[in-house]
Amino acid sequence: MANPKPAIKYTQLFINNEFVDAVSGKKFPTVNPSNGAVIIQVSEGDKADVDRAVAAAKRAFARGSPWRAMDASARGLLINKLADLIERDINYLANLETLDNGKTFESSVVDIQASVSTLRYYAGWCDKIHGNTIPSDGGNFTMTRKEPIGVVGQIIPWNYPIMMLAWKWGPALAAGCTIILKPAEQTPLTALYIGALVKEAGFPAGVINIVPGYGPTAGAAITEHPDIRKVAFTGSTEIGHVILGASAKSNLKHVSLELGGKSPIVVFDDADIPEAANIAHRALFDNHGQSCCAGSRTFVHAKIYDQFVKAAKELAMKRKVGDPFNPQTVQGPQIDQEMFDKVMGLIKSGKDEGAVCETGGDREGTVGFFIKPTVFSNVKDNMKIAREEIFGPVQCILKFETMEEVIERANNTTYGLAAAVITNDINKALQFTQSVDAGSVWVNCYDAITPQTPFGGYKKSGIGRELGEDGLEGYLETKTISIRVPAI
Ligand code: NAI
Ligand code: MG
Repeated sequence: MANPKPAIKYTQLFINNEFVDAVSGKKFPTVNPSNGAVIIQVSEGDKADVDRAVAAAKRAFARGSPWRAMDASARGLLINKLADLIERDINYLANLETLDNGKTFESSVVDIQASVSTLRYYAGWCDKIHGNTIPSDGGNFTMTRKEPIGVVGQIIPWNYPIMMLAWKWGPALAAGCTIILKPAEQTPLTALYIGALVKEAGFPAGVINIVPGYGPTAGAAITEHPDIRKVAFTGSTEIGHVILGASAKSNLKHVSLELGGKSPIVVFDDADIPEAANIAHRALFDNHGQSCCAGSRTFVHAKIYDQFVKAAKELAMKRKVGDPFNPQTVQGPQIDQEMFDKVMGLIKSGKDEGAVCETGGDREGTVGFFIKPTVFSNVKDNMKIAREEIFGPVQCILKFETMEEVIERANNTTYGLAAAVITNDINKALQFTQSVDAGSVWVNCYDAITPQTPFGGYKKSGIGRELGEDGLEGYLETKTISIRVPAI
């Protein structure tokens, strides 16, 4: 049941299984994007707090610690227990997520269900992580052991606060790492509540630590820390560069990056137009366009272009924007003033550069960060709206004629996160899926992301993969052990 006023229980840092104030005593406000009002003040972590959290995580990872001594299967039971507790409290957590993030209550529920599935998927991996025996030259007995990397830092964004936490924690815990998580400054509340569930589940102290705070302070302290062995980051490409640089300047910690995108969705002329328009609509507008893999360049074959634009416009006009706690609403506010301004600026550039604004193009209401679902047709490749990540409810529809041309144009971007093709022609589907530079390619569907499917980017969309077995690999070191076997 939607409840716009969930009681907020936890606003302090979660370190060593305790809720504590920041060393500095500082706090920062978290804002309700539906009305711009401060929800509550949250403890503001900084370097001193990250140091404390790392010390706890190091103790938890030390040889002989309860976490390291635990059977792998018992680790799996703990992760499953956490999943159970999140599921138990799904209603409360969904309300808190909607309050802090602005996504609809229903979307929060769906995100949390996916998060629970992700944790359960990785719980199952714990006692199935093993190395090989290798027929090495020279007759040694050689084997590999998969070992946890150690203390890991995880920096996540605001667009899917609980889901990004689960994508990061699942594989890290399955591998046996210990964690310092920094939620985004816009959305710290649900992670802190889940901190309490971590303790209730029975995780040993220090295995999971949560330090809310800002990027250049708490975030930077994580990326620069000499005792953190890996940083997993989801966010902007700009900060991805900063994080890789911080690793280079500190201890060469492993870095995995899940960054921006400008993902093409290509609709061929054999497609069923209403169905294709619907797939493309959801691909862009889900989560208010605030998705790294949003289908933000819709390429439509010239033969069906006008009909498609009409269908896309009708869908956008029907989309109900407003209070995310209202069950009729499908689109809530953008996350904050900064993102609102960025999206509105890009909409203006689209109009200025000559794209046709079919619908929307303006804010919705006067309070909060709501933007009308916007559809641009006549979009050209060189326009800013076709090149830059908008991260808002703005669909850009481009026209194409041939396969060769659309592959060339689809790939003409620095990004490479996702792509989709809508066609019933198997040859076209295969030609496109094999030629596009993207970490995920979807045929006649979009956002087909499940716990089992690796996800991540080519080019400047990132380094490494999350989810699936690939996601686990990012938290493991391979140790090769060779034993000389004396001749008999
Ligand atoms: P951001 O990359 O600045 O923030 C993401 C996370 O990184 C937050 O937790 C933030 O505190 C942290 N961070 C920021 N600066 C840092 C630093 N110097 N060191 C360590 N951590 C740092 O993204 P922001 O400002 O929220 O959004 C900017 C743009 O990034 C958006 O317009 C969108 O295009 C893109 N973005 C992409 C996301 C994705 O899912 N790939 C998610 C959020 C934003
Ligand atoms: Mg930023």
